[in-house]
Amino acid sequence: MSGKKLNVGLVGYGFMGRTHSNAYRTVNNFFDVGYEPVLKAVSARDGAKAQAFASQWGYESIETDWRKLVARKDIDLIDIASPNDTHAEIAIAAAKAGKMILCEKPLALTSAQAEKMVKAVDKAGVANMVWYNYRRVPAVTLAKQWIDEGRLGRIFHYRAKFLQDWTISKDLPQGGAGLWRLDVKVAGSGVTGDLLAHCIDTAMWLNGGIDKVTAMTETFIKQRKHNLTGKVQPVGIDDASAFLARFSNGSLATFESTRYARGHKALYTFEINGENASIAWDLHDLHRLQYFDHRDEGALRGWKSIHVTDSEHPYMKNWWVPGLQIGYEHTFIHQVADFLKGLESGKIPGPDFRDGLATDYVTDAVLASARSGRWVKVKQVKK
Ligand SMILES: NC(=O)c1ccc[n+]([C@@H]2O[C@H](COP(=O)([O-])OP(=O)(O)OC[C@H]3O[C@@H](n4cnc5c(N)ncnc54)[C@H](O)[C@@H]3O)[C@@H](O)[C@H]2O)c1
Repeated sequence: MSGKKLNVGLVGYGFMGRTHSNAYRTVNNFFDVGYEPVLKAVSARDGAKAQAFASQWGYESIETDWRKLVARKDIDLIDIASPNDTHAEIAIAAAKAGKMILCEKPLALTSAQAEKMVKAVDKAGVANMVWYNYRRVPAVTLAKQWIDEGRLGRIFHYRAKFLQDWTISKDLPQGGAGLWRLDVKVAGSGVTGDLLAHCIDTAMWLNGGIDKVTAMTETFIKQRKHNLTGKVQPVGIDDASAFLARFSNGSLATFESTRYARGHKALYTFEINGENASIAWDLHDLHRLQYFDHRDEGALRGWKSIHVTDSEHPYMKNWWVPGLQIGYEHTFIHQVADFLKGLESGKIPGPDFRDGLATDYVTDAVLASARSGRWVKVKQVKK
């Protein structure tokens, strides 16, 4: 068991509130890290629901206003797991109060907001991270290791997709609990900031910065009833988004996302083609990495499907025995483990707020290009 206590204050008890809470509760059972997260308080506007969540997950107390949570002396870390329109205000206040911050993605509604968040954490000197959790799927981390070792050689192509099908019905309303993703004021954008942001973060981690993009977006259902106003209102989000990109290393990319791909629930895939080898990954089969190496002996050359469960694979020695796979929730446990190890070593790993801002620069450029129909240069983060 680990030593120092780290008091966590969570904002939001929805989907991500659960994945994060599970990670805090589990991490010390599997990872030898210098800190022990303590579930100190959860904050949400509905006190009864917050209390029910606190009881189920083991939080010691609740707050019904995140400002009170941020002001509490007994909280070390603020975890922002509430909708996108809340991230900037909470993070900036938390930084001012000297709290460490783990913030959900996308970092902010716009890159202008995200810049202010980066300034705030820089000024306060507080540890920060963004929950781009797919970096910590063992197969994706393995892909990163192989690319960094140069196994693929020069990279020519990057191809990513994130497909869903849950908003096809024209009768689906927008706004309010569960459907805030369809309300542009709360979400900031549609699939560009929600789904492509994940693809972009992984892509830049694996293959470096993106220089420019040209994009198209579409809103297939133009009006939906708003749950909070009861009125039929225009839909401001992009239902589908596709873009071409040029990476700084000269490689070309295609990215596509939609919530109108009938039959697909969360099909995040990427493929990378290099001079020597190619890699492919698929969230529906997340413990496998597909690998083709042209340097293999001719008659044996072919795609390998590597079951990423051996103890030499990233993170896997902390889990069961070779051959037994892990899943989605483990990516959050890995992120917490890496964060806590980073606190111990003094070097917090990415993705930090600067990485979150870099992704917001790309999504802003995608939306600007879709509006103008032109190539747009992506603003670069100052290191
Ligand atoms: N990393 C990932 O893979 C991933 C997956 C899903 C969602 N997300 C991100 O996580 C965040 C939350 O998404 P979710 O799916 O958990 O949403 P959700 O709707 O399931 O939960 C949101 C929670 O925030 C609370 N909330 C809303 N407004 C609030 C406010 N003003 N103050 C305090 N609490 C408030 C709600 O009551 C609810 O508990 C979003 O930014 C989303 O983009 C990330």
